[in-house]
Amino acid sequence: MLPVIVAPMFLISTPQMVIESSKAGMVGTFPLLNARPAAECAKWLAEIKAALPTEPWGVNFICHERENARYDEDFALIKQYEPPIVITSLGNPAPVVEAVHAYGGKVYSDVIYVKHAKKAAAAGVDGLVLVCAGAGGHGGQLNPFAFVSEVRAFFDGVICLSGTISTGGDIAAAQLIGADYAYVGTRFMTAAESNSPESLKDMLINSDIEDIVYTDAFSGVHANYLVPSIVANGLDPKNLQSKGKLDFSVMTDAKAWKDIWSAGQGVGNVKEKQTIAQIAEQLQREYDAAVARVTQLQTNV
Ligand SMILES: Cc1cc2nc3c(=O)[nH]c(=O)nc-3n(C[C@H](O)[C@H](O)[C@H](O)COP(=O)(O)O)c2cc1C
Repeated sequence: MLPVIVAPMFLISTPQMVIESSKAGMVGTFPLLNARPAAECAKWLAEIKAALPTEPWGVNFICHERENARYDEDFALIKQYEPPIVITSLGNPAPVVEAVHAYGGKVYSDVIYVKHAKKAAAAGVDGLVLVCAGAGGHGGQLNPFAFVSEVRAFFDGVICLSGTISTGGDIAAAQLIGADYAYVGTRFMTAAESNSPESLKDMLINSDIEDIVYTDAFSGVHANYLVPSIVANGLDPKNLQSKGKLDFSVMTDAKAWKDIWSAGQGVGNVKEKQTIAQIAEQLQREYDAAVARVTQLQTNV
């Protein structure tokens, strides 16, 4: 069992990805908005629930009542299908905590600032996802060492560390600094079970840290994007205009993320197309080697 949550990724995560991840001893997740309309989402949830009767899995719910047009429908689906873990983004997690705890599930909230971590902790969440610098999607700017220790000082729940974690050694390192789970996105984007088009997979394999730009030009919220996809759309990555304000429709609109692709700074470790099971095996081998290395270092002191 690897301490890995295979992170929810807009347009990329599929039910097969969730099922294979959880069967491989990790925790598979998907954003509810990946399944459109809500009736399709119900089918995904039923399929995953049937395939994973005992394994942990989760969904990502944008719990911003005003901005998420699917708020009511998705909240009803959560109550009906009872995913073991609900990861909230934006908004106030308190109503979700009440509903999910009622059926025995857990709520994790993703945050990029300590002040938001404190608010979510006060709302009673079971876990926090600390989204650090370099993460795929709407990455934060904080350093993981500082962020984990500041949050650990007031929060004794589950801490998931997000941002550029892409090798088994990185996973071990996340645990060494106090996290319970590594929250890994980009490393899984070339998975056979993902919804990534082949051209995106090829771009990921050919990209490294220098190919990632952090900008608010596309959604009004800073996120990390693949420079080659910006260039392919005729834009100059060195001359992007700030959007100035949050454009929520762009954040959840498939069109905005279909051509300009997001990925994290760990993309240099994405070197081939693999199945979820193969990625899990590789991460486990690397993790075991890293733990052995640390043990060796201790005995050398
Ligand atoms: C293409 C892509 C789409 C993403 N979509 C979402 C999303 O819909 N909801 C969410 O909470 N996080 C989303 N994320 C962020 C991931 O859940 C996770 O925090 C991040 O990928 C971890 O950093 P890493 O990519 O460096 O491993 C997305 C990330 C990527 C790369």
